[in-house]
Amino acid sequence: MALLKLDNTVMRFGGLTAVNKFSTEISDNELCALIGPNGSGKTTIFNIITGIYTPTSGSIHFNGDDITGKRPDLITKLGIARTFQNIRLFKGLNVVENVEVGHHLRLKSDPMSAILNLPGYKTEEAAIRKEALELLESLELEHFAYEVATSLPYGQQRKLEIARALATRPKLLLLDEPAAGMNPNEAEELMQFILHVLKVFKISVFLIEHQMRVVMGICPRIIVIDHGETIAEGTPDDIQNNNRVIEAYLGVDDYAGN
Ligand SMILES: Nc1ncnc2c1ncn2[C@@H]1O[C@H](COP(=O)(O)OP(=O)(O)OP(=O)(O)O)[C@@H](O)[C@H]1O
Ligand SMILES: [Mg+2]
Repeated sequence: MALLKLDNTVMRFGGLTAVNKFSTEISDNELCALIGPNGSGKTTIFNIITGIYTPTSGSIHFNGDDITGKRPDLITKLGIARTFQNIRLFKGLNVVENVEVGHHLRLKSDPMSAILNLPGYKTEEAAIRKEALELLESLELEHFAYEVATSLPYGQQRKLEIARALATRPKLLLLDEPAAGMNPNEAEELMQFILHVLKVFKISVFLIEHQMRVVMGICPRIIVIDHGETIAEGTPDDIQNNNRVIEAYLGVDDYAGN
């Protein structure tokens, strides 16, 4: 059984079809990339998986459960975590506190009360701090633990977002263009970090990327979409030589990642 299964999903916004009959399956411990030009529907696919939008039609199953149209917080609790295309860290919090927000999303406590330090949270606080520090350690980020999150270098902020997502203990991690705005060296370092996450946490990762070159080295399977539809799927070699893919990217100067 697939961990995640999208079956014929469609997402329309008024007259615009952002996702058109998109189907795919992600297995346990798989690393799969979703690439496509600007506006091709990548983020919308993540938004229907995570319950931000209910698909117009089609179904989404996770771990055997039908999660189509379920609330985002319930989907998080079932084991899907994500990061966003634009960094969303809590500005006033340090690194370890940002990770703790992820822990609170998993537990019954709501994150705002935790941040406000209301009574009743004191008891679980120490345990959560310990867990958050251990998580940072497993990602080799512990030396930043008490720094203000938004003062970290950009690449480290991206890693911290991933750490916070991991704190919800997901089975599936969705990463929306984590390498956006990075130079090739930074992007490569982040890809190695993602491989490390896959190995240590034994989870599945579904990764959106704009540039093919960034994911080619690490993703055994790549799905390419254009106008919300799958136009190719396969190994990096298959994709690179696929005419429809080349056409979709034609005229786009960052094809294959210039
Ligand atoms: N809430 C919305 N309302 C209306 N249109 C939307 C909405 N969200 C997305 N769209 C449209 O759906 C299409 C797909 O957008 P989406 O953000 O999924 O693309 P993307 O592949 O993630 O693009 P990018 O590479 O720029 O991040 C675009 O035409 C976009 O304008
Ligand atoms: Mg997007």
